Amino acid sequence: MASPFRDGILEGKVAFVAGGTSGINLGIATRFAELGARVAVLGRNPEKAASAAAGIGRGAIGLTADVRDYGAIRAAMEEVRSRLGPMDIVVSGAAGNFLAPVLGMSANAFRTVVDIDLNGTFNVFRGCHDLLNLPGASLIAITAGQAVNALQLQAHACAAKAGINQLVRVLALEWGPDVRVNGISPGPIAGTEGMARLAPDPQTRQKHFDRIAMKRWGEIGEVAECAVFLCSDAARYVTGTIIDCDGGSQVGDATQRSIEKGLS
Ligand code: NAP
Ligand code: COA
Repeated sequence: MASPFRDGILEGKVAFVAGGTSGINLGIATRFAELGARVAVLGRNPEKAASAAAGIGRGAIGLTADVRDYGAIRAAMEEVRSRLGPMDIVVSGAAGNFLAPVLGMSANAFRTVVDIDLNGTFNVFRGCHDLLNLPGASLIAITAGQAVNALQLQAHACAAKAGINQLVRVLALEWGPDVRVNGISPGPIAGTEGMARLAPDPQTRQKHFDRIAMKRWGEIGEVAECAVFLCSDAARYVTGTIIDCDGGSQVGDATQRSIEKGLS
């Protein structure tokens, strides 16, 4: 489907995508670059970061740091500013996840996911503020439906993503009007690591599918278009909000409609 965004809409912008070396976040970084932004992506694995940057092309930079390490993430963002300039767009999308019941999860397992998702987002946003191009910077956290809908085997991700949603709102209050802070909550997106981990078998995939009002899996490019919207002038009065890009997955159970239409 043709994009509604014109070529060059992000010309002159500098974008940093934490967790941008694979999956949804790489799709976001790639779209930013296609639309004219100078882009840096970051992950823990140096080969993955280098290959993501090479795939994006257009002078994209691949950096390595763990978002749990404030000093390392801060140093990476300082490097972005010195090589590309002050940042206009910062995406915090690094996440870790696995299915486990609370009783099958050690304290360290719970802490690990909260540390990557929630504390990592704090580190990225806290660390970027004085490196931003102000006014007009746009910050985007990648959250998930677990933030609002409790899901078994997801205590760590539910707690972490709920915290991210509130962090987004607080930062929107504290940093407006110079900085807009929003979140995107993707639904089940085809071909991603998240889907492979959270819906590993046909039965679980069907349960996720039954919740989708749009009756198809989401695409990485569709989340990327939401991110472009949020950092474009079209969203200049949008802050402190979470956009669900999930085909209606959080609205309720769409099973009955699937049965009526013979879709499930
Ligand atoms: P993914 O491909 O596994 O991407 C995760 C990215 O984060 C990778 O670049 C990874 O690179 C990096 N990363 C992980 N831990 C890190 C750490 N401690 N420090 C720095 N970087 C780290 O995941 P995805 O499925 O595309 O998901 C992307 C985002 O969308 C996540 O925030 C996820 O919660 C959200 N989401 C996904 C779905 C879905 O259907 N997939 C649905 C809802 C929400 P390294 O491994 O090299 O560090
Ligand atoms: N069930 C229960 N506990 C698990 C687990 C599972 N499936 N996988 C990991 N853990 C526990 C470990 O046993 C460890 O706890 P312990 O020290 O008490 O034994 C703790 O979680 C940390 O694991 P470790 O492997 O040391 O963490 P890490 O920092 O190297 O990796 C993960 C973080 C576990 C989240 C890893 O899966 C990861 O890097 N994921 C990134 C990609 C991803 O998840 N993408 C999807 C995004 S939606």
